[in-house]
Amino acid sequence: MKKIIVKGGKKLSGEVSISSAKNAVLPIIAASILNGEKTTIIDAPMLQDVFVITDVLKSINADINIDRINKKIVIDTSKVISGEPDSELVRKMRASFLIMGPMIARFGRFKISLPGGCNIGSRPIDLHLKGFTSLGAQVSFGYGHVEAYASKLIGNKIYLDFPSVGATENIMMAAVLAEGETVIENAAGEPEVQDLAEFLNSMGAQVSGAGTDTIRITGVKELRSTSYKPIPDRIEAGTFMVAAAITKSKLRINGAREEHLNPIIAKLREIGVCMEKGENSIIVDGDNEFKHVDIKTMPYPGFPTDMQAQMMSLLSIVEGTSIITETIFENRFMHAGELKRMGANIKIDGRSAIIEGVERLTGSEVKATDLRAGAALILAGLAADGYTKIGDIYHIDRGYVSIEEKFLSLGADITRIEE
Ligand code: UD1
Repeated sequence: MKKIIVKGGKKLSGEVSISSAKNAVLPIIAASILNGEKTTIIDAPMLQDVFVITDVLKSINADINIDRINKKIVIDTSKVISGEPDSELVRKMRASFLIMGPMIARFGRFKISLPGGCNIGSRPIDLHLKGFTSLGAQVSFGYGHVEAYASKLIGNKIYLDFPSVGATENIMMAAVLAEGETVIENAAGEPEVQDLAEFLNSMGAQVSGAGTDTIRITGVKELRSTSYKPIPDRIEAGTFMVAAAITKSKLRINGAREEHLNPIIAKLREIGVCMEKGENSIIVDGDNEFKHVDIKTMPYPGFPTDMQAQMMSLLSIVEGTSIITETIFENRFMHAGELKRMGANIKIDGRSAIIEGVERLTGSEVKATDLRAGAALILAGLAADGYTKIGDIYHIDRGYVSIEEKFLSLGADITRIEE
């Protein structure tokens, strides 16, 4: 079993380049089904989740070429069939469900296993299905799978009860080939949703308003081949910003886009971290006095749930009481138990975590309970006394490109071992 070992206490320095966003590229790969032609993704992040979704597409006959060295993925969906994708792959990753919208749009029918994914709450798909139904699809459930059929999708007005990222994306993808206009109200406004809209428009779709709470899609008859470079990963950037803070170091984060990082920048500033904008980068200086803060995760532009665990690691060693309230997922505090093994003083009360800052964390043997929890444990390990050994790191590889190489280049003492 692979593990990451971090020896804490070293100052970091230098610069790190942010890879393209996992959460942007996954829906983009799903959307490549829509044109039935060739799609080229430039600067694609070479991540496990990306390999899983490309395998899902291969299982329905897409022809995919991944050039790991040049970070280029070429997808040809001309021979895709309307069959059921490999259920084991679909259950492995929730984002696989993002192919449902494109498949109904292109073939008028689709059957898929119910999705799996990170262990962070029940994560239903009712809003996705509500959207498909509003567009005229008939949806039914069987043992462990869901099926949709539509002789024709027709644009409609869809109000989402919650601005779900995945539902907004899936409905948007279903609607681009539907007849007439679709309006998604209370839509998610995350940068990754905006990026998907840009990608769809680059294929000839007519999507406007992405990034606001109302997205309008005018259906087109067909889409064309395209080449696209996804946005940089704001969560990876945020993770390295916290790395600078937790090690009291100065780092340049190349590719970090301030406009996508406002809620994270605002919270880090409130804590006392200094930040300035460089050329296509953000310079973070953590060598300062810190003060405790409260954080509430919210849909964009609120504080992202995907940065909650990393902030908990930082606040664990900031004097005073900080409270983190998680409003997006109902079971996303599993990292608190692991941080407690490292000496953190955290109590969970329903959807809130009450963190009493301690002077130091101590290295310990811990487990990555999900993707961002794993990143949080690396961060905690960088600041802890002695060695931190992190298990179940396959979670980390799902969403961080070459994480230990990137930290090594900044001067961290970090290795991956096989045990
Ligand atoms: C996406 C991100 C994930 C991030 C999350 C919230 C991808 C691949 N993943 O996940 O990293 O943590 O956004 O920013 O982009 N919900 C429903 N019904 C639905 C769909 C969602 O009730 O049909 C609920 C979920 O249970 C959850 C909340 O809505 O409580 C947010 O989920 P959603 O925004 O859909 O997250 P994902 O798209 O799964």
